[in-house]
Amino acid sequence: MSQIDYFTEDRSVEAVNARMGDEVSPRLREVMASLVKHLHGFVKEVELTQEEWEVTIEFLTRTGQICDDKRQEFILLSDTLGVSMLVDAIQHRRPPGTTENTVFGPFHVDGAPVLDMGANISLDGKGETCLYEGRVQDPDGNPIEGARIDVWSDNSEGFYDVQQPGEQPEWNNRGVFITGADGRYWFTGIKPVSYPIPDDGPVGQMLGHLGRHPWRPAHMHFMLNHPNHERIVTHTFVSGDDYLTSDTVFGVKESLVVDYVLNESGETKWKAHFDFVMVPNQ
Ligand code: BEZ
Ligand code: FE
Repeated sequence: MSQIDYFTEDRSVEAVNARMGDEVSPRLREVMASLVKHLHGFVKEVELTQEEWEVTIEFLTRTGQICDDKRQEFILLSDTLGVSMLVDAIQHRRPPGTTENTVFGPFHVDGAPVLDMGANISLDGKGETCLYEGRVQDPDGNPIEGARIDVWSDNSEGFYDVQQPGEQPEWNNRGVFITGADGRYWFTGIKPVSYPIPDDGPVGQMLGHLGRHPWRPAHMHFMLNHPNHERIVTHTFVSGDDYLTSDTVFGVKESLVVDYVLNESGETKWKAHFDFVMVPNQ
């Protein structure tokens, strides 16, 4: 007589995973079997109580309920638990000397205007001006022509334009630049400021319960696309920022921290130099 896998505490994982049908794809089988194994392992390790599980279900329910087309609380949850950065790290292992990725975040908007090199993206006139400049190159130091550089940052009060529609000009602190044959880029923005991630929902409450703050160190977002190279999604961080070592979404990497230096000879107050190194497609 064949052994029937009734559900028991000891054989809980086997009982659940045995129910998967024969037609399940190998990858879904692998992912779900592992998820069940680790989820049950977690419940067993902490001996989760009924009450704790109910609080968890209630927390996840509220996390879903606050989501809409502008607010994605599950992404914030993934970010603050380090899962976004872990998936990114695994998927974007790059050779030394090439530009590292970091978290994408919820504030990118498709369709920002393509601007002439040198344009000013700060449309509200607030904040300390900064010249951003550098080169886009391959690992051998050759310039990359036709790289599309999408940039976005908060304003001097710590808010993205999409967080303050009607208050900030549309496309404030956003733009797209395309490199020429020399691979160079330059534009004017502001020296960004540190800001808290939206913390008026379940994720903010979770951070509070865990004795964690919701702040991100000041940063400028960059996304680089080129048909022959791997996409880069990254930020540059302002050196000296108070939150560099405690970014609430774990996005900081040493190679992405940039010195903002006084721009003695130029029209902006600050200057921030950063060269991007893109990995050629396989
Ligand atoms: C951001 O940098 O825009 C961001 C990233 C993760 C969560 C919230 C904001
Ligand atoms: Fe940001």
